[in-house]
Amino acid sequence: MIIITGSTGLIGSAATEYFLSKGEIVLGIDNDLRKYFFGEESSNKWKEKRLKKNKNYLHLSIDIRNRKRILEIFKKYKNKIKAIIHTAAQPSHDWAAKEPFTDFDVNANGTLNLLESLRLFVPDSPFVFTSTNKVYGDLPNSLPLKEKKLRYEIKTSHSYFKNGINEKMSVDQTTHSIFGSSKLAADLLVQEYGRYFNLKTVSFRGGCLTGENHSGAQLHGFLSFLVKSIVNEKRYYIFGYKGKQVRDNIHSSDVVAAMDEFIRKPKMGGHVYNLGGGRKNSCSILEAIKLIEKISNKKSNYIILKKNRIGDHQWWITDNSKFKNDYPQWKIKINLESSLKKMIIHEFNLLK
Ligand SMILES: NC(=O)c1ccc[n+]([C@@H]2O[C@H](COP(=O)([O-])OP(=O)(O)OC[C@H]3O[C@@H](n4cnc5c(N)ncnc54)[C@H](O)[C@@H]3O)[C@@H](O)[C@H]2O)c1
Repeated sequence: MIIITGSTGLIGSAATEYFLSKGEIVLGIDNDLRKYFFGEESSNKWKEKRLKKNKNYLHLSIDIRNRKRILEIFKKYKNKIKAIIHTAAQPSHDWAAKEPFTDFDVNANGTLNLLESLRLFVPDSPFVFTSTNKVYGDLPNSLPLKEKKLRYEIKTSHSYFKNGINEKMSVDQTTHSIFGSSKLAADLLVQEYGRYFNLKTVSFRGGCLTGENHSGAQLHGFLSFLVKSIVNEKRYYIFGYKGKQVRDNIHSSDVVAAMDEFIRKPKMGGHVYNLGGGRKNSCSILEAIKLIEKISNKKSNYIILKKNRIGDHQWWITDNSKFKNDYPQWKIKINLESSLKKMIIHEFNLLK
């Protein structure tokens, strides 16, 4: 049995479907809090229905903040649990500032509930956590950038991070946002349970994780929401940086493949890995719009606002070298264009 929290979310549902396809039993924990965060259009109930069709999927609509229930679940299934994938979260930068208590309780305390359950009942099982590149706060914005026609790009004179940002970037003295802080607290706990208690925990610091299974909302799921807006001919708002901010994008199935690698060959010591699409799968918002227009044959309708989101990255490209060195079998299989095609087809199907 694999426990997957956030099992109806983008990454959780991809992980659930992957492990079900391998014949595993999956116990999914998800109470559709995403709907509370971002509204009806972002509810993941449609995926819950889809997953429940598989008899090896057991769904529990429980809140990870509920310490008593989480401990009970781990106690009950302690002889069956092979691995834990923890993806449940309040995932938005901006939303966190509305309700810092909720954000911290879900992201930090919820993670602690799961780690302590791991330590008490299944200390031999690997524990995979989906962290974020926001643990580095806005420090990436201090890198020397040049402005190009459609994107910002790092100056080639900068030797250290020119191929992407690795785990050596500091997490201190930077503006993280409330979300970045609660995720960093969780990320540190995941590391500490690995180091202090010798457990097989890992933290994947994701950039933009994407795919057709994302219930994109304005406050979370940039590419998914952008595709949805263009296909449905709705106006899209770009927050600052002239739309030239750069993100690298990784499809959910490539994220799950990395998780699977770790679960099959887990390491002690609380490792952290940056995980993203890399330079080849990077784009600015303006470039993403052009690509989506080309693939979908639809015209975009967007407005560029002057004000950027507090702490938002101007340029982020992931350096995946550390993970690739430790797990050389892993490689990105779905490029940006293929991800976009899958998302566009998904949106057109919804229109039918
Ligand atoms: N999507 C990205 O671009 C991105 C980037 C970096 C990191 N991450 C991290 O990856 C993880 C997964 O992200 P995602 O895009 O799949 O998010 P998602 O919102 O699609 O999925 C998260 C799921 O967790 C559930 N959930 C939230 N709070 C819960 C709670 N208290 N109890 C039970 N269930 C709860 C939600 O209902 C949702 O279905 C998160 O930890 C997120 O911070 C995502």
